[in-house]
Amino acid sequence: MPFIVQEVLLLLTLGAGIFLASVVEAKTGPAHDKVVVCYISTWAVYRPGQGAYAIDHFDPSLCTHVVYAFAGLDITQSAIKSLDPWQDLKEEYGKGGYERLTGLKRTHPHLKVSLAIGGWNEGSRNYSILVGDAQQRGRFVKQVSSFVRKYNFDGLDLDWEYPTQRDGRPQDRENFVSLTKELRDEFDNYGLLLTSAIGAAKNVIDQAYDVRQISRYLDFLHIMCYDYHGSWDRKVGYNAPLIADTLDPLSVQYSIDYLLKLGAPPSKLVLGLPFYGRTFKTPGNGVLGDATDGVGFKGPFTREDGFLGYNEICSILGNKTSGWFKQWDGQTSQVLAYSERNVFTGEVSVVTFDSARSIANKVKFAMMKRLAGVMVWSTDTDDFLGNCDLDNDVYADFKLVTAAPRRLNQNYPLLRTINEAITLSLEEIAADEVVTPDDAENEIPHGGVADRKNAGAFLNSTPLSISVLILFVSLMCERHRFVVNLLEL
Ligand SMILES: *[C@@H]1O[C@H](CO)[C@@H](O)[C@H](O)[C@H]1NC(C)=O
Ligand SMILES: *[C@@H]1O[C@H](CO)[C@@H](O)[C@H](O)[C@H]1NC(C)=O
Repeated sequence: MPFIVQEVLLLLTLGAGIFLASVVEAKTGPAHDKVVVCYISTWAVYRPGQGAYAIDHFDPSLCTHVVYAFAGLDITQSAIKSLDPWQDLKEEYGKGGYERLTGLKRTHPHLKVSLAIGGWNEGSRNYSILVGDAQQRGRFVKQVSSFVRKYNFDGLDLDWEYPTQRDGRPQDRENFVSLTKELRDEFDNYGLLLTSAIGAAKNVIDQAYDVRQISRYLDFLHIMCYDYHGSWDRKVGYNAPLIADTLDPLSVQYSIDYLLKLGAPPSKLVLGLPFYGRTFKTPGNGVLGDATDGVGFKGPFTREDGFLGYNEICSILGNKTSGWFKQWDGQTSQVLAYSERNVFTGEVSVVTFDSARSIANKVKFAMMKRLAGVMVWSTDTDDFLGNCDLDNDVYADFKLVTAAPRRLNQNYPLLRTINEAITLSLEEIAADEVVTPDDAENEIPHGGVADRKNAGAFLNSTPLSISVLILFVSLMCERHRFVVNLLEL
């Protein structure tokens, strides 16, 4: 308590004219009003050693929404089902993962918890059958509604990858709209959230989604802005380039602009950020475009060819004797790291990934587009134990920030960057708007009225130094579960 009072006095002394209206014990989540959707790949609990991630590792103060991935589809019953009853449920001495995650709402009332159905391994075929039959859809809608309520979830996230693709059928596009509409009608009776993970490649968007229609029924569209390139290309490429060559449809910018053009409201779009990289092996020098073996390599925790979690990447690169080099690419906001040549195989290992700086730049992009917020795949590959050193170039591409805000905690560097970068980029955008009121961005009615009010309310008229101070103080107060509420300036 004395600590708080001291800080308050300090703030009052420094910021002449600021009235600290109240210090309330209220907010248990992020201090901004944007959406931060955190997926947990719950099979991460089976990873070895320091890679193992249980529900207990999750930090609910860093996300507004959390999604439990994945449940499956039992097509014989038209029903959602647990894919791992021992982890998910409590029966027969199970670990009760569903209720341990939804139970976090007791201490963190801001948190919304959804259950995701689908994922890559579930394929597409059975979902295609389900949506193609009105009766099966009807049964599913009723069953899934009672299932999510039974475990105290706030909603359902549809992760069908993807309608019309991978053994799907052309009718899936229309039938998926029917499914979202019928779920919406049912969910509205209980105030449940309905969201969907959406593929980001242009050809998938074109074939799989009636964007305008599904946008009517979904609360949020979680755009999977990653896997643009990987070992399957048989050449080195960036996993998730922010901006590619003008005509290249494989970039974050292209996906988001395209969805907006197709009629998705920015206030429902959530930009997906990868907490992982794509790996390659090449006889070349390890530069972009080098021919590769089509397989890549795996990490010690995630053990999947072609994939490395950020926690695995930062530990490899942080090891001074491991012989890796890294290069920042300003246009794509991607990092490419390559190893020394292996003397036995003659190959160079390469990983392309998002660093904290990449994440900060993408957050700023999402804020400039006035999107609802960002999503992460997935929390379990952030450096959740805080084993790596923090990057010092995180805000190198921000105009008004020269140093990263000091942090109390070293863990979850990427998630913490997201929350800081939301506040900092909204400030930067507000400052730009004051300087250039004619900016074309202003004339486009992006985003909800609430968004604009929340984002702009005090930031518009607040000098940067004061806002940074507020951020700093609220970070310090985090420990005490207090948030400083600044009402009027
Ligand atoms: C689809 O459903 C059938 C019948 O229940 C099941 O045998 C099959 O494994 C399912 N497909 C996938 C990819 O899960
Ligand atoms: C660092 O890399 C070297 C060479 O690959 C390896 O022998 C060593 O075990 C690594 N150290 C740590 C702490 O991982």
